[in-house]
Amino acid sequence: MTTVRIKDLPQYVGEKVTVNGWLYNKRTSGKLQFPIIRDGSGYVQCVVFKKEVSEETWKTADEVTQESSVRVVGTVRAEARAIGGVELGVESFETLDLAREYPITPKEHGTDFLMNHRHLWLRSSKQHAILRVRNEVEKAIRDFFYDRDFVLIDSPILTANAAEGTSTLFETDYFGEKAYLSQSGQLYLEPAAAAFGKVYCFGPTFRAEKSKTRRHLMEFWMVEPEVAFLEFEGLQDLAEEFVEYVVGRAVERCQEELKTLERDLSKLENVKRPFPRISYRDAIEVLKKNGIEAKFGDDFGGDEETIIANSFDKPVMISRYPAHIKAFYMQPDPNDPTLALGLDMIAPEGYGEIIGGSQRIHDYDLLLQRIQEHGLPLDAFQWYLDVRRYGTFPHSGFGMGIERCVAWITGVPHLRETIPYPRMLNRIYP
Ligand code: 4AD
Ligand code: MG
Repeated sequence: MTTVRIKDLPQYVGEKVTVNGWLYNKRTSGKLQFPIIRDGSGYVQCVVFKKEVSEETWKTADEVTQESSVRVVGTVRAEARAIGGVELGVESFETLDLAREYPITPKEHGTDFLMNHRHLWLRSSKQHAILRVRNEVEKAIRDFFYDRDFVLIDSPILTANAAEGTSTLFETDYFGEKAYLSQSGQLYLEPAAAAFGKVYCFGPTFRAEKSKTRRHLMEFWMVEPEVAFLEFEGLQDLAEEFVEYVVGRAVERCQEELKTLERDLSKLENVKRPFPRISYRDAIEVLKKNGIEAKFGDDFGGDEETIIANSFDKPVMISRYPAHIKAFYMQPDPNDPTLALGLDMIAPEGYGEIIGGSQRIHDYDLLLQRIQEHGLPLDAFQWYLDVRRYGTFPHSGFGMGIERCVAWITGVPHLRETIPYPRMLNRIYP
């Protein structure tokens, strides 16, 4: 007999099929039992009618516990009121493994408890929906770049270089030498841009952020494009087109999940180009208008980002930050070299910075000077300087944190639910 995944059941109306899965929930009313089975692809309500099944099937369905693994044979019936539009008229119900008392019950649990059971929490409908959106976002990202002829360049995880400041490095021993977990693949992409023109990397990155906020993880996934001969204006266009595409894909293909998450779709449907573009100076003015004491040279934290974002109904791009608060590699603004041609894209609704990027310094002497000013070890950066020694060229790129993007799209307040196994301050279990 055909074994069918739950999401495909509507194609089998009138047929007898086998479904493998886990018991999600159960309801009984006298001579009828309604076990709900989930298999990762969906949920289906089964109908067990005492008169129509063997004594053994009735007993098994009666005794089955939450999250037991089960195999059900039955006939698919159209039922408009049921989840998925079908139900399963049960012929036989078999328990493969009777689950002991499952720790996550429909009652409310505290966050710490749920985080300690993250490996099981993944089965819950909300977590399941969030990670399916993440899956779509990741596929959309790959499609976006592949369709535009970018080449995927996998950057190393173990590195001798600090890309984003030396204060958040995870250090490890590399056969007697110091190595770090990568904070960003950017430095490795720049030489690859000279080889391929348009490249991107997409992988885990690591920051020993000693901050316990809802927007920071120690391990997060970042997608980073890097484009040869792309200058600052073009970089902003690319970031905008990219975000519009990714959000659009999630809205188009994750209707069911976003419904489960009760996400307000009108907010996401509004994410259409052009996005507002403001300068760092404008952003300071926005803060002042909102009663925040901000002055030139301040960096923005989560609260400031939220206030700025609330002044717009789309993601906003802030550019031209004071050079000294940004990374060493950012190209100075030709009109005012104290400013950097860097951009941050701030998501609406308080989700904070989702993208950071810049045009890169392509002048050898200036880059050398910045490496020294930032106290970075020159030896470790010789290969990076080579990009400026052999046919240097203007180029730009950005990085988007996947978890921040997914948090925004799904509307969950904390990053910890947007990655299967979050790594946070004081948490590496499970
Ligand atoms: O702004 P960041 O630090 O930029 C870079 O790493 C550049 N090298 C990227 C590039 O130009 N190729 O980080 C980029 C994005 C942020 O906007 C944010 O979305 C995410 O990475 N991010 C984090 N996400 C979760 N937890 C953290 N601790 C994060 N730090 C950065
Ligand atoms: Mg940043």
